[in-house]
Amino acid sequence: MRGKVTAVVGTKWGDEGKGKIIDYLAQKADIVARATGGSNAGHRVVINGKAYPLHLLPSGVFNPNAKIVIGNGVYVDPVVLYKEIKALEDDGIEVLSRLYISEKAHVVMPFHPVLDEYEESLRENKIGTTKRGMGPVAQDKYGRFGTRMLDFVSAKQDVLHSVVDDQISYASRMKCKLENERIGLEIAMACGRSVGEYEEAIKVLGKRVCDTISLVHQWLEAGENLLIEGAQATLLDIDAGSYPFTTSSNPIASGMCTGVAIGPTYLSKVIGVLKAYDSRVGEGPFLTEDTGVNGSKIRELGHEYGTTTGRPRRCGWLDLVALNYSCRVNGLTGLAVNHLDTIGNFAKIKVCVAYKNFNEPNPVECEINNDERRTVPYVTKEFTSEVQKLKNCEPIYEELDGNFGDISKVRRFKDLPKNAQNYLQFIADYTGVPILYVGVGPGREDLIKCNLKPTK
Ligand code: IMP
Ligand code: MG
Repeated sequence: MRGKVTAVVGTKWGDEGKGKIIDYLAQKADIVARATGGSNAGHRVVINGKAYPLHLLPSGVFNPNAKIVIGNGVYVDPVVLYKEIKALEDDGIEVLSRLYISEKAHVVMPFHPVLDEYEESLRENKIGTTKRGMGPVAQDKYGRFGTRMLDFVSAKQDVLHSVVDDQISYASRMKCKLENERIGLEIAMACGRSVGEYEEAIKVLGKRVCDTISLVHQWLEAGENLLIEGAQATLLDIDAGSYPFTTSSNPIASGMCTGVAIGPTYLSKVIGVLKAYDSRVGEGPFLTEDTGVNGSKIRELGHEYGTTTGRPRRCGWLDLVALNYSCRVNGLTGLAVNHLDTIGNFAKIKVCVAYKNFNEPNPVECEINNDERRTVPYVTKEFTSEVQKLKNCEPIYEELDGNFGDISKVRRFKDLPKNAQNYLQFIADYTGVPILYVGVGPGREDLIKCNLKPTK
């Protein structure tokens, strides 16, 4: 029988703590794969008190028996990947011998991060990119100018320079139209610095480049289980998210299928990870953001600073309207709720249960109140990821009781205080999706496994 495939996806803007859930699920997986994004991702896994920040390797790497796949959908920065592998191997975690990198994965060239920064500088409305080259590498991929891992491996060492050179001249040609020599020079300098590092990285990684599509299917047919690890998250999806404040890939579940080239019917479980509050790093709409004391309190208690960029994250209350959207577009079969301990520090916890939507007049109210046509909002549970429409929405909150006390040692749902149980039940009931995991602390062991079903 074919092995099972589980996908773990971020439900909001990333940093939901996917790494922790994946780390747990990976213990039962034969294969763990990254399928989307690139080194813009930052997963922080804490093992025995030591934090391992990962950008390109799946967090499942900590299961020493799992095969590790970097799928065709990933944008690979070889230098970052090589450094990450070395850091783990220096700590005694063997990686290379079980790593399989797709020959089809596109390479983040030395100048892509430089262009990323440059393009961001041209934008009137900043996206707040991580500057890891994602936009530019995606442009080259879809423009069919890209360089794939296969191109690197098949190039002899002395050809490597010319592969890079070709790309530089292409990039310079295109971008110099925008700001002639200045950017051209910056690109050349940046590349001059890192071609050597590329050569070193590719020499080692090249041996692990292969046809992962064929291998993954062979392994599945042999009954092995695959865990696909999401990067970024649903509302950063270039199609389903709040464009243009998105990343340059498809982190939703269907994108994850594309990123390892399996059919959507292969997915047996799609687990959506959320926090008991919301956070966002980078620009773009965030309706339940709290820029006051509560937001700061969440940031400090939840240590909400970016793994990749170190930026303080914007924080606010849990938006259930947006979560419902995420359940739909990913087809979630289960939820994992992190940071229950963090939100439990509040005496009263707000959750957004609907939006006041001022985009359209409410027809019923309008008849009565004709003069105020534009000010009478719809109350809706229907999410929109459209930036312009979101500007005309306001969250409607319900308040739940907090003060959970110290729950960091709790390992069974039934041992949680009533208020904490109610909070979780509220989420399950609102979304209609069962809660399977609850995070009560940063460590891999700080996890409650449950099957909290919706009651309505
Ligand atoms: P890019 O992916 O670097 O182009 O950044 C686009 C947007 O996605 C920015 O708002 C980033 O902050 C955000 N972003 C990208 N990767 C992650 C991630 O792994 N976690 C959280 N936000 C991310
Ligand atoms: Mg992250």
